[in-house]
Amino acid sequence: MEKDAEKIKKFVQESYGRRAQEQEKAGACCPSGVPSSCCTPGEVKTYAEMLYTKEELEALPQSVADFALGCGNPIAIAELKAGEIVLDLGSGGGIDCFLAAQRVGATGKVIGLDMTPEMIRLARENARKIGAENVEFRLGEMERIPVESNSVDVVISNCVINLSPDKDAVFKEAFRVLKPGGRLSISDIVLLQDLPQDIRESLEHWAGCVAGALKKDVYLDKIRAAGFVKVVAEEVEVPFLAETDKGQTRLGLRDKIASLRVKAFKP
Ligand SMILES: C[S@@+](CC[C@H](N)C(=O)[O-])C[C@H]1O[C@@H](n2cnc3c(N)ncnc32)[C@H](O)[C@@H]1O
Repeated sequence: MEKDAEKIKKFVQESYGRRAQEQEKAGACCPSGVPSSCCTPGEVKTYAEMLYTKEELEALPQSVADFALGCGNPIAIAELKAGEIVLDLGSGGGIDCFLAAQRVGATGKVIGLDMTPEMIRLARENARKIGAENVEFRLGEMERIPVESNSVDVVISNCVINLSPDKDAVFKEAFRVLKPGGRLSISDIVLLQDLPQDIRESLEHWAGCVAGALKKDVYLDKIRAAGFVKVVAEEVEVPFLAETDKGQTRLGLRDKIASLRVKAFKP
């Protein structure tokens, strides 16, 4: 089992490493697999436009705004305030970190954590482009968060926890780093029905945020088991189904998965 977990993590890391490298090469346009406004001109909504408001996207350089790999908008429910300290688990190119940084302002701070070195490099380059001084990106795993206990006001995460082979550890760690009264505000993929065996056993589908997803109730129970209270969840549309159904890779998943927005508190 431990070997399986290692294999999954390595596959996930390599897959997102490639995504980051492709984005670095493509610059402002056309990262692979993600429709961007410069790749799909016209009235088709870009992937990022399915997740974020026009105002949020316009506040960022296009190359940063276009590199959205999430399945929701955790900032929308986080109610961030000036001066708060935010931690983003699996920060990718940094889109949610930069949006959070605008809300917490110069007196606040955002830490983006990602286990893929290429993503950290891309996110740091994005921070440099934006001139975001209140954002720091750390290389590390969300199962062992390199952050002090009781030091963070808000933990956010966007379509990442489903990728972990050890979700109990992730929620336990999120709870540990939060200050008493701190909150968890995450978007993630959950299952509404069992997946077909071929999808469940596919590493590609694990890295694609489907095969590692848990049933919605199991997911929420794990959050409560870590100590969180006042757990509130809301299902929203899965943005990547619209896109990938055209490529025929995820046909049949529409009734089986949901994108869940969850808010919870550390007492
Ligand atoms: C689907 S992408 C989401 C990126 C970003 N949150 C966004 O919305 O654009 C998943 C990211 O999580 C990172 N990741 C996956 N498993 C992780 C883990 N165990 N610890 C830290 N980062 C992880 C990947 O490297 C990748 O950058």
